[in-house]
Amino acid sequence: MVYDLIVLGGGPAGYLACERAAHEGMSVLLFEKREVGGVCLNEGCIPTKTFLYTAKLKDGAEHGDKYGVVCGGASIDHAKVVKRKDKVVKTLTGGVAAMLKGLKVETIKAPAAIIGRKGNGYEVEADGKHYEGVRLLIATGSEAAMPPIDGLKEQFEAGFALTNREILAVTDVPKELVVIGGGVIGMEMASYFNSAGSTVTVVEMLEQVGGPIDVEIAALLKKNYEKKGITFKMGCKVTKIEKDGVVYETGGNSEKVKADKVLVSIGRTPNTEGIGLENIGVLVERRAVVTDEYMKTNQPNVYAAGDVNGNSMLAHTAYREAEVAVNNMLGKKDRMKYNAIPGVIYTNPEVAGVGETEQSAKEKGLDVTVKTISMRFAGRYVAENEGGDGICKLIVDNKWNKLIGVHMITNYASEIIWGADVLVAKEMNIEDIKKMVFPHPTVSEIIREAIWQL
Ligand code: NAI
Repeated sequence: MVYDLIVLGGGPAGYLACERAAHEGMSVLLFEKREVGGVCLNEGCIPTKTFLYTAKLKDGAEHGDKYGVVCGGASIDHAKVVKRKDKVVKTLTGGVAAMLKGLKVETIKAPAAIIGRKGNGYEVEADGKHYEGVRLLIATGSEAAMPPIDGLKEQFEAGFALTNREILAVTDVPKELVVIGGGVIGMEMASYFNSAGSTVTVVEMLEQVGGPIDVEIAALLKKNYEKKGITFKMGCKVTKIEKDGVVYETGGNSEKVKADKVLVSIGRTPNTEGIGLENIGVLVERRAVVTDEYMKTNQPNVYAAGDVNGNSMLAHTAYREAEVAVNNMLGKKDRMKYNAIPGVIYTNPEVAGVGETEQSAKEKGLDVTVKTISMRFAGRYVAENEGGDGICKLIVDNKWNKLIGVHMITNYASEIIWGADVLVAKEMNIEDIKKMVFPHPTVSEIIREAIWQL
């Protein structure tokens, strides 16, 4: 049989592409070497959100007295949290597997590699068997970056240094956890293990946490977690991992912080090796598959979506890229746009943003107005956040009088940001946004308030 589409990788890009393509009547074959759902469902987004929900409940109980709730000391039963996480993951991966089966997507649990061209399509090999497809979608995702830091390989093999995959399975809370890299994974894991009782130290090479988020919001995030007891070593580059701690350089000096476990969260590398891309000449740059706005690679009928193209390593980007790829396979013109992709850090408080930040707008030389207001202008925020110091920031393009960025640090930020995303993606004019009605009382009203304060 010659399939209409062969998909390599069953994460958010791969399984969504299968769903859309099968729904449109294509015959689809999916290869996944682990479990369907990819990093997102198995060892990323979903498991960490189950952890972080527990942390939020515990934090709420701990500070309940501020809100008139009287309860004794709250603590986390981590082994139970891990068990629940496993149940949640199983439910969702089971759902994806059932969906694929229902749509008659053939799924093979094996690593697959492209052999070459055959007929008017391509040949793929897995477990010694050969398969043919007219089109290919490369959706093999990414894995935790493992740079050549002295001792990292040895300590990883010894189970002392962990990535996002291994730390989710640890059933004992480490007494002293050192997190290398204060980016998205680093901050979310630091947040959970801080609540679970670890003494957490984050060692970050740059001067800000959270990656390329707004500078003021990054500072507030760090301040909130310093108050909760996390130690931050900023501007500190890890150079060595020893069996009992981490060595880093700061201002020309070498220092060491002790640890029981070390989380390595210093970025991710696209999975482009061992899948036969070279056999058909797919262009790969800096280990990522190069794609255009239609998610096409340099080879005919070969597409790539998700982390493997390194454009924006987020599950929600992967979903949309997969749709764009399938639409173009079907001859429906569809283009990927990256200017309004929301980003969220699920800490407590949450951080979310979409579009330009103050810094990125200035770097691009845009003429912008930046409006920063306290979240305390939203009544519900005040009701629910005793002593909260959240902010909301709008970035307005003066030339066109439209909103090009929204950034916030507040509870519910993750659920509010899609609304801001619509305003930015649809390039709405400020005067039109002023006429929109927001539900009251909600934390989301902060956007309307900030617009009126411009
Ligand atoms: P990241 O790129 O967000 O952060 C890595 C951090 O490590 C950076 O701040 C970097 O300066 C630092 N670093 C690098 N080398 C270092 C060294 N030798 N010593 C000290 N610090 C060093 O990467 P992260 O956190 O691993 O996340 C990977 C990907 O997963 C990201 O693309 C992220 O968007 C995605 N992700 C998204 C989530 C979400 O949407 N909530 C949750 C988790 C991951």
